Amino acid sequence: MVKTIGVVTSGGDAPGMNAAIRAVTRLASALGFRVLGFERGWEGLINNLFRLLTPRSVGGIIQLGGTILLTSRCPEFKTWEGIRKAADNLAADNVDGLVVIGGEGSFRGALELSRETGALIVGVPATIDNDVYGSDETIGFDTAVNTAVAEIDKIRDTAISHERVFVVEVMGRRRGFLAATVGLTVGAEVILVPEVSIDMEEVFRTVKENAAKGKRSGIIVAAEGVGDTRRIAEEIEAKTGAEVRLSIVGYAQRGGSPTARSRLLASLFAEEAVQLIMQGVGNRVVGLQKGLITNISLEETCKNQKTLDTRLLKLAKTLAT
Ligand code: F6P
Repeated sequence: MVKTIGVVTSGGDAPGMNAAIRAVTRLASALGFRVLGFERGWEGLINNLFRLLTPRSVGGIIQLGGTILLTSRCPEFKTWEGIRKAADNLAADNVDGLVVIGGEGSFRGALELSRETGALIVGVPATIDNDVYGSDETIGFDTAVNTAVAEIDKIRDTAISHERVFVVEVMGRRRGFLAATVGLTVGAEVILVPEVSIDMEEVFRTVKENAAKGKRSGIIVAAEGVGDTRRIAEEIEAKTGAEVRLSIVGYAQRGGSPTARSRLLASLFAEEAVQLIMQGVGNRVVGLQKGLITNISLEETCKNQKTLDTRLLKLAKTLAT
């Protein structure tokens, strides 16, 4: 009987998910697998909604943002009944291996599912938050960084002309990987991330010291997870006398054509995932560690939290003097 691989994209979308779908489909097809693309994330598994993916049907998508399979955040998958339905559907569809393209939350779901199904599950890290333990980088992160950087470079122009300070909110509800990398690479004067408690007095001091030395404009990059950025902007204006504006980069960071780097990671991760399934290995999450493609157990990914290297923040501060 022809072996079957399922593929699903789940949670927040990330540029490069399509490149991963394409690579999984073409690599698995070349090995003789039938490939089923489940639609709308876990919802597709629960309701058994899938389409057959072929090397031809995934043509022309490597450069597209979003995910052709659609995605969702699926509360039903947090229940045992939801997971059971998904496991039953995988069995009914004779799925031998399932490639889950997503982030932390998707892998927690995948771990629960792995306890109910005989299908080999392999995770492919794709999230603009870059917060998957076991991988130095996730698919989509580089694209989101570049999107935010391009936006903030424009904001810098108007900040300089008007001698204003901008608080720029970037995505990252729980983690500051995006904010830290973006902040460093736009030359932000201040970076605020959820991992480090905010010292507003220090922020006021930095803005005032900068103004005193003739630097009357500035960029403060804040991850959305640090709290109410409008209030932060207002406080800075009230306490420093600087003219402060808030700009929210928002969901544009989740879309757009993936950078070459996001496409490359997608292709390499997909190759590792298909290889694992072909070798009969499941419950793994593929990743990039020190330049090499690796994999670790799904349990390990889910039990651990990737830590932000706070040296980035220190370096950014030193460089922004
Ligand atoms: O996928 C990651 C992320 O972009 C977070 O940084 C953000 O907080 C969240 O998704 C928002 O997603 P949604 O509004 O789709 O739930």
